[in-house]
Amino acid sequence: MDVTKACESRFSCRKYTCEDVGNGLIEQCLECARLAPSALNKQPWKFYVTRGDIKAAIAKETQLFGANGFTDEAPVLIAVTVKPKIADKLADKIKHQDFSSIDLGIAVQSFCLKAAELGLGTCIIGWVKTKSVDKILNTAAGEHTKLIISLGYPACDQPPRRRKSMEEIAVYIS
Ligand SMILES: Cc1cc2nc3c(=O)[nH]c(=O)nc-3n(C[C@H](O)[C@H](O)[C@H](O)COP(=O)(O)O)c2cc1C
Repeated sequence: MDVTKACESRFSCRKYTCEDVGNGLIEQCLECARLAPSALNKQPWKFYVTRGDIKAAIAKETQLFGANGFTDEAPVLIAVTVKPKIADKLADKIKHQDFSSIDLGIAVQSFCLKAAELGLGTCIIGWVKTKSVDKILNTAAGEHTKLIISLGYPACDQPPRRRKSMEEIAVYIS
């Protein structure tokens, strides 16, 4: 599958079959995440692949205000954490940029595009009680959960895309 096809076929999947996803497939997605660019090549991310009781506990922490109930059915939840170094935090302050979050977003998209190529469904989940997930995972000091990725075999079709027009998002300056 080429990049365009992967971008076209990825969508936020919120309905999954109960079939588990093998670690071999997950590792292919993680390999694409691992290759992602990052500011100063810091690679500040970590991916926790969860199933079973830990996954069920994390699912509960995504279900704020009645949202994200589908995380109960997703066979795999992947918690993505960052651990920015002090130097990164300083650079962020000077540049007014949250580089580690930008890095993490790029890596997560690489993961999701590879998953789409493999016929897997994903949803990036940001409405999460991140501190509670940190506790469940017993993350290191200074390491914080930023996003959850749900992963499984889709039990739904891709819905129509709602996107801004090219004219709204692109500016050519010459
Ligand atoms: C940072 C981020 C946080 C998101 N959080 C959630 C979420 O908590 N729950 C959810 O169902 N979808 C979430 N989404 C998915 C978006 O709603 C979705 O990407 C958007 O509506 C476009 O739809 P598509 O992914 O199917 O193209 C999130 C996406 C991103 C990038």
